Amino acid sequence: MTEIKKIAVLGAGLMGHGIAQVATQVGKYEVNLRDVEQRFVDSGVSMIRESLQRFVKKGQLTEADLDATLARIHPTLDLKEAVANADLIIEAVPENLELKKATFREVDSYAPSHAIIASNTSSVSITEMASATKRPERVCGMHFFNPPQLMKLIEVIRGAKTSDATIETILAVAHRMEKETVLVKKDSPGFIVNRILIPALNEAVALCYEGVADRDDIDKAIKLGLNWPMGPLMLLDYIGSDTTLAIAEVLTKELDPKFHPTTGLKQMAKAQLLGRKTGKGFYDWTQK
Ligand code: CAA
Repeated sequence: MTEIKKIAVLGAGLMGHGIAQVATQVGKYEVNLRDVEQRFVDSGVSMIRESLQRFVKKGQLTEADLDATLARIHPTLDLKEAVANADLIIEAVPENLELKKATFREVDSYAPSHAIIASNTSSVSITEMASATKRPERVCGMHFFNPPQLMKLIEVIRGAKTSDATIETILAVAHRMEKETVLVKKDSPGFIVNRILIPALNEAVALCYEGVADRDDIDKAIKLGLNWPMGPLMLLDYIGSDTTLAIAEVLTKELDPKFHPTTGLKQMAKAQLLGRKTGKGFYDWTQK
């Protein structure tokens, strides 16, 4: 097993900032947080501060813990600086295969040879990303759920060449972050959760677009009928119609045409009604 002391998180967005927070707040790791523009890094750090303040308000964290957590986060724009002294790199850049492969290639050239590269991807093939590196045995999936600060699960995904030692190390890191884990033994599109979730969200959009029921009734039905914490259309706004569409397209292409995205889902993404990211989706988030 590799000893992990320093983690680099690539991407300070919706998922990246939360992963960096969990790694520092709960795992007590030192974290280099990297994004491509100063405004993205600043926004990531300020989301972390806001989230930590919520824990302080509830008495689950002291002001001193908050300061110590923030002090363990080292923001940077420089990829080489971010990964050069990292034992584990967690990639959370946008869901685009070419971008991810280019990132993996670059990380591989700068990171120490013992370092593990894990991806938080929700849909891209781990095996394909690993093939962009010279260390496919030290590449795997480490899939967090939104919001990472609150969601208990991490899916750990084995790529075609991932070694047992890499899987053991990632499981140990996840447990140090006080997360529950499941092992995805084969690198299969959507892993476990999204293969089940995305068709459900897709159908919720279809029900709404076909006029079978109104938004609020669809969400109420699933909240009260299945005991979900939020309805599928609100959850879709949390995830983003762009991300949901991207996952549905991968499932359709790689697994089965039955996963094809509905017209409604495509229209939401085309219209930039992405949910919380753009302020509007099925719900209006501009006032929240
Ligand atoms: N940091 C710290 N605390 C937070 C927080 C954050 N980022 N967000 C919310 N909280 C806290 C709130 O302060 C609140 O605390 P109290 O109850 O003590 O006051 C608590 O969490 C609940 O928050 P809210 O009242 O605002 O809202 P809620 O009760 O609906 O809970 C939720 C929020 C935990 C997100 C809940 O709605 C939920 O579990 N929703 C489903 C989320 C889900 O399914 N995520 C998976 C998405 S799929 C995915 O991520 C995979 C993929 O690849 C697409």
